[in-house]
Amino acid sequence: MGSKRRDNWGSRLGVIMAVAGSAIGLGNFLRFPAKAASNGGGAFMIPYFISLLLLGIPLMWIEWTLGRYGGGFEHGTAPGIFHSVWQKNRFIKYFGVIGIFGPLVIFIYYTYIESWTLAYSVFSLAGKYVNLADQASMQGFLRGFQGLEHNQYFNGIGPAYLFFLLTFAVNTCVIYYGIKGGIERLCKWAMPLLFIFGLLLLFRVFTLGTPDSARPEWNILNGFGFLWNPDFSALKSAKVWLEAAGQIFFTLSVGIGVILTYASYLSKGDDVVLSGLTASSTNEMTEVILGGSIIIPAAFVFFGPVDIQSIARSGVFNLGFVTMPLVLNKLPLAQILGFIWFFLLFLAGITSSVSLAQPAVAFLEDEFDINRKKAVIIFGAVCFLLCQPAIFFLGNGVVDELDFWGGTFFLVLFATIETILFAWVFGMEKAWDEIHRGADMRVPRIYKFIIKYITPLFLLFILGMWLWQEWLPIIFMKNVSPQSKPFILGTRLGLLFIFVTLGVLVKIAWGRKRAQLERAR
Ligand code: ALA
Repeated sequence: MGSKRRDNWGSRLGVIMAVAGSAIGLGNFLRFPAKAASNGGGAFMIPYFISLLLLGIPLMWIEWTLGRYGGGFEHGTAPGIFHSVWQKNRFIKYFGVIGIFGPLVIFIYYTYIESWTLAYSVFSLAGKYVNLADQASMQGFLRGFQGLEHNQYFNGIGPAYLFFLLTFAVNTCVIYYGIKGGIERLCKWAMPLLFIFGLLLLFRVFTLGTPDSARPEWNILNGFGFLWNPDFSALKSAKVWLEAAGQIFFTLSVGIGVILTYASYLSKGDDVVLSGLTASSTNEMTEVILGGSIIIPAAFVFFGPVDIQSIARSGVFNLGFVTMPLVLNKLPLAQILGFIWFFLLFLAGITSSVSLAQPAVAFLEDEFDINRKKAVIIFGAVCFLLCQPAIFFLGNGVVDELDFWGGTFFLVLFATIETILFAWVFGMEKAWDEIHRGADMRVPRIYKFIIKYITPLFLLFILGMWLWQEWLPIIFMKNVSPQSKPFILGTRLGLLFIFVTLGVLVKIAWGRKRAQLERAR
């Protein structure tokens, strides 16, 4: 163990707010309603809650516990944490590379999308899109902004780039000020503001009533019905189960590596059972109650039962940046409501993106003894370059590709490795004691069995299904257009390069430490 002092959290409320901030993100307000509406409505909630109980909650406790344990050895990222758990194994640290790679890859595109929400909140206040009244013009506005076409709204990617620079700068600034002075401080004011904005929108949607008296069936109750009436036939589809499990991972930020890092700044005796559960419940309430009550019911009352089907399936960008502004434009105080919606998304986004940046920064600090400020500068410079393809080749599928590897595939793989390591290598008896160190409540005993058998089997099943159903078409780019193929291939090579570089850095870091130890002898 070294003697340097690692950063730490200022208060228990602070760490809960920060983990909840990491979890509550664009996934809660955009991804969740779109997934629920297009995968069986209320029936989607059955695989969703089963995945929450069998995957989400156990993984959350595993990550909080492993993170705190690794922090005791002054390791804040998966290579060091995995190595602390299985010291005899020389290779396990390389599996931990995924826990830095995943969040880094998500950060690259997440920050760019987050910058759109900031831009749109400004556009809304400035009344830039308030006169647009149909899908085609709002689509044109979005495409012009993204630099995908030159039109009457935008003649280049300049404004989008400016907002990206601003968002990137704010993110790096928050991390620069550290765990307590940056991340905790941000989350302590951003999270309450986010809840206030969410509740204001919820209230507005609940009071929509029946805006068009000629179409009485387009009312808010039927809007909720559209989202929540169960279609039980969906439960027979493997895809629905995979999507529900994927949503649980994404929304709780588990399997990414960020909770490991956040928990590594806890003290040895800090509770993880109740704090982890509180952060996860806050995320779930926000997702199901706020996320589920805003966009889809509101779109239903204005677009009706037929158009809403295609709207729900048209993807999260369309829902958030085309449909929702159109809905809000039809209401009094449209500019203010638009601002509230997009700034809500921005707050949700930034409290997540800073958590995605932290593992890479912690890795440089902990394993290379670089001070935080220098680590943030290195991280900022490298990441800034890595963001460029996502910005300039958005139309060629680069963001989707990054999301598949960083935000989907590696997430499940990483969770599987973590669970096996925790329950089988660390050992369930020791793991159970470690979870309960300093705990304010006991975990129900059934979870001893779930963590040991059910969670890893469920994860292996998901991975197996994936490989079976999707591996070949994905590897051979079956669904990629010929123009996009070089970009997708380029993205994959870029990702491979990042992964290998991180692996080499791990090797160098461990080599340096060995040399230091030998010199000290
Ligand atoms: N958990 C974060 C979200 O939901 C990544 O957006």
